[in-house]
Amino acid sequence: MFKKLRNRFLILNMSITSIVMAIAFAAIYIISNNNINSEISKKLNPQVGMQTVMMGTESPDSTEDNKPKTLNRRVSPDYSDSFIIRVDERGKILEIDSPFDMNDETYKKAADIAWTNKNISSTITLEGRQWRYAISRMEKQVIQENGRSYTVAEDGYQIIFLNVTMYKQTLFHLLTTLLSVGFIMLFVLFIISLYFANRSIKPVAEAWERQKQFVADASHELKTPLSIINANYDVLLENKEETIKSQMKWLDYIKIGTDRMTKLINDMLSLAKMEDIRFPVQKVPFNVSDAVNDVISSMEAVMADKEIMLSRSIEPDVIVKSDPERVRQVITILFDNAVKYTEKNGRIDISLKKSKRQATFSIKNSGKGISKQDLPKIFDRFYRVDSSRSHETGSYGLGLSIAKTVIERLGGGIYADSAENEYTTFTFTLSIN
Ligand SMILES: Nc1ncnc2c1ncn2[C@@H]1O[C@H](COP(=O)(O)OP(=O)(O)OP(=O)(O)O)[C@@H](O)[C@H]1O
Ligand SMILES: [Mg+2]
Repeated sequence: MFKKLRNRFLILNMSITSIVMAIAFAAIYIISNNNINSEISKKLNPQVGMQTVMMGTESPDSTEDNKPKTLNRRVSPDYSDSFIIRVDERGKILEIDSPFDMNDETYKKAADIAWTNKNISSTITLEGRQWRYAISRMEKQVIQENGRSYTVAEDGYQIIFLNVTMYKQTLFHLLTTLLSVGFIMLFVLFIISLYFANRSIKPVAEAWERQKQFVADASHELKTPLSIINANYDVLLENKEETIKSQMKWLDYIKIGTDRMTKLINDMLSLAKMEDIRFPVQKVPFNVSDAVNDVISSMEAVMADKEIMLSRSIEPDVIVKSDPERVRQVITILFDNAVKYTEKNGRIDISLKKSKRQATFSIKNSGKGISKQDLPKIFDRFYRVDSSRSHETGSYGLGLSIAKTVIERLGGGIYADSAENEYTTFTFTLSIN
């Protein structure tokens, strides 16, 4: 499912990038092509080379109004990359003006091609070079010099051939560069996108897996109390005539089953609420020292039952700005574990300290401890070190995961430390403000 999602994301990403790049590169190519074409037509267009020269004001040959006569002198495009063929009205070559060393046949061929396609200024290939030509009519030229004027009759056409091989090559190079840069960029982008897509999908996939595992574990855990209830209900039905008093044993088992289910469901709800960021947590100042002492009092009976020795070092009036109910819940979870996992005649040490910025609660108990391999997993949902005993104790392995979720949601940190067959310590910190 996540692979599909990743691939879709990649396809979308790459398509958008390719389209944007194609548009940008096409724009670059079209602009360059237009610039080159206008450069070529500038060189081919004789108008550009037309010079208007103001000569002497009094011309004997001047026209009636005696105005300064303007001279339109067609200036041959004096480029080393072009040649001109002048032809008469029928296309016969009159003159060749060329810096190139090409034989007459070639010029004749060039003139023929240009003359037959008179109206089209297109590109032709001559002696391995590419030429663009333009045909224009030669006008009569009037040349004024020193107050005298000369009329040069030049009827016919002139065909300018411009060597465009370099331009074509430049354009071709630009195209190949753009294409190769485009492909390399797309490839690099693909690798980068793949890396980031994998990276961003990983936590989502993990969260999804955790959620799936959670549902599977929860259903599995619910099966046990349900089967207890079912089995005892069947026994009750088999002895319909018996009194409730005589059936009390089965009813008590049913009660145990429902109690366990209630605990499990309450724990799961607690987790779900804490993980839902829309669910608000309070931030009010309250006395943690009092909360710890309250929890100790509520546990005294159980501790006495197991003959556990308790030592406490609780700094009085430690005030933190947090959610009192939730903090009390975490202290209860940790205390409940300490009592549950301490052997008979064991000991529990509790401490609460305040520093400049934070309050630190820690609870240490003697007992089997937790092995190095298990230690990183104990905050996972439904994780129990000894899951075989959990049915007797009614433990689901949710206590510590709730404690961790709550403390992290309140902006604190929770840690465990243990030495096998010696001690286990749980510590949480909360910032004072
Ligand atoms: N104080 C402790 N001393 C030794 N082992 C502990 C202690 N606290 C937790 N553990 C180990 O970590 C496991 C997970 O604890 P957690 O509180 O999450 O679950 P639980 O106590 O088994 O069940 P629940 O809290 O849901 O009733 C326990 O099963 C136990 O093996
Ligand atoms: Mg527990």
